[in-house]
Amino acid sequence: MRGITLPLAVLATSWASVAQASSLSQYALQKVLDDASPIFGSYVKQSNSKTEWMKSYSDDTLLVHMNIPGTHDSATWNYTQATQDVMRGITDLNQVTLPVPEALRCQELPMIDMLNMGIRAFDLRYAFDPTNSTIIFYHSQGLLSETATLDDVLFGFYKWLDDHPSETLFLSMQYEGSTAKYASNDAALQLKLYNALTSPAARQYFVQTKDQLGTLGQARGKITLMRRFDLDQLSSSYTNSLPGLHFSPSLWTDNSPDIVLTYNTKENLTAYIEDYYEPLTPTGSNATENIQWKYNATTKNILKATTEYPNSLFWTWASSTNTDNAPPEWPRIMALGNGTLTPAGGVNQLLVPFLKQQKGKRVGIVMFDFFDQPSKLIETFLSL
Ligand SMILES: *[C@@H]1O[C@H](CO)[C@@H](O)[C@H](O)[C@H]1NC(C)=O
Ligand SMILES: *[C@@H]1O[C@H](CO)[C@@H](O)[C@H](O)[C@H]1NC(C)=O
Ligand SMILES: *[C@@H]1O[C@H](CO)[C@@H](O)[C@H](O)[C@H]1NC(C)=O
Ligand SMILES: *[C@@H]1O[C@H](CO)[C@@H](O)[C@H](O)[C@H]1NC(C)=O
Ligand SMILES: *[C@@H]1O[C@H](CO)[C@@H](O)[C@H](O)[C@H]1NC(C)=O
Ligand SMILES: *[C@@H]1O[C@H](CO)[C@@H](O)[C@H](O)[C@H]1NC(C)=O
Repeated sequence: MRGITLPLAVLATSWASVAQASSLSQYALQKVLDDASPIFGSYVKQSNSKTEWMKSYSDDTLLVHMNIPGTHDSATWNYTQATQDVMRGITDLNQVTLPVPEALRCQELPMIDMLNMGIRAFDLRYAFDPTNSTIIFYHSQGLLSETATLDDVLFGFYKWLDDHPSETLFLSMQYEGSTAKYASNDAALQLKLYNALTSPAARQYFVQTKDQLGTLGQARGKITLMRRFDLDQLSSSYTNSLPGLHFSPSLWTDNSPDIVLTYNTKENLTAYIEDYYEPLTPTGSNATENIQWKYNATTKNILKATTEYPNSLFWTWASSTNTDNAPPEWPRIMALGNGTLTPAGGVNQLLVPFLKQQKGKRVGIVMFDFFDQPSKLIETFLSL
């Protein structure tokens, strides 16, 4: 008898986030959160001014008027050489050639830390595992975890929202097509995705309006789906019953500094998007020039957000890379610079003084790489 009490006590304390694990549903949730952890990070509950910064905005605040810090390729935070090596047995089944991990890594802190530090918009790239049975996360050919499924990670967000009901989240989902030799955005994948996004839990935690952004009050405790995918292999009834905003890949101009995308044609609701992720600098350009070009595109869209179309959505991606250059500018170099070669730093350092000048203005949603550096970046953003 004594033998039973001890292991249970040990287990309960090692599952730190369940304060008093006592029911099967709590154990089940903890199991899902553990499964999610390679992508979501290990769940920790925190409560402070950063975890609940939206408390200081009134319920009638329009979401399009808010300044929302986000992360680009949010799930890549643990994509080191070690992770790439561990995943190789799986990625070999996909029959792909992997680039160096630096080419794919865009973050360094887990998504739970992002949430607790104030990030409210996330960018997830999904595809099937090599057996076409579960939806998991990739960045290009890089498999980020074999075990953390879309459902697992969604439960991480649901749990966090339960703990922080004043907050609202934006979740950008995009099909990643370069993951496997025979990767395909086929009907089976689309159906699985649809089911995950319309499960009873998803119906509860996703804002259920379609092609509309309402007020903060309507969205607190919930997620707005930013749908960067089509369900073109399924009948239109599936698309019609999915909530959120639709940014069809066919309308999202590749590598454009200036995308004007109407997501609701009936009401002419438009998003102004900068997604110039690979600056088209002349061959042989150095890191300083690439960073300057990206900074220019980023600040141009943000300045437009501060001065034009007050009721339109602005979505700026401060993230970038230059893979054509030799040596390449990987996302980290673009965001943070290349040491003494770039005395002013990378896009993130340059954005700090720029953002300070936008105090009191609407900048919209801005997606960062390596958002935690310099620490002044998120600090400045949250004090806009
Ligand atoms: C991060 O990656 C390393 C190496 O693959 C792994 O040992 C570690 O468990 C990962 N961290 C999480 C939270 O999954
Ligand atoms: C997975 O789906 C792709 C595309 O439909 C197909 O080519 C491939 O053979 C499938 N793989 C398995 C293991 O069934
Ligand atoms: C739609 O709205 C944009 C501003 O966001 C405006 O420039 C355009 O003229 C409008 N189009 C129509 C058809 O009303
Ligand atoms: C960036 O913008 C600044 C200010 O408008 C301009 O002087 C500079 O030439 C631009 N640089 C690039 C690389 O576009
Ligand atoms: C920084 O730039 C130098 C010179 O272009 C290059 O050799 C080096 O690889 C770069 N650093 C990184 C981390 O890429
Ligand atoms: C980068 O290129 C610019 C423009 O050609 C040049 O002025 C600058 O000196 C170069 N920086 C380095 C570190 O090579």
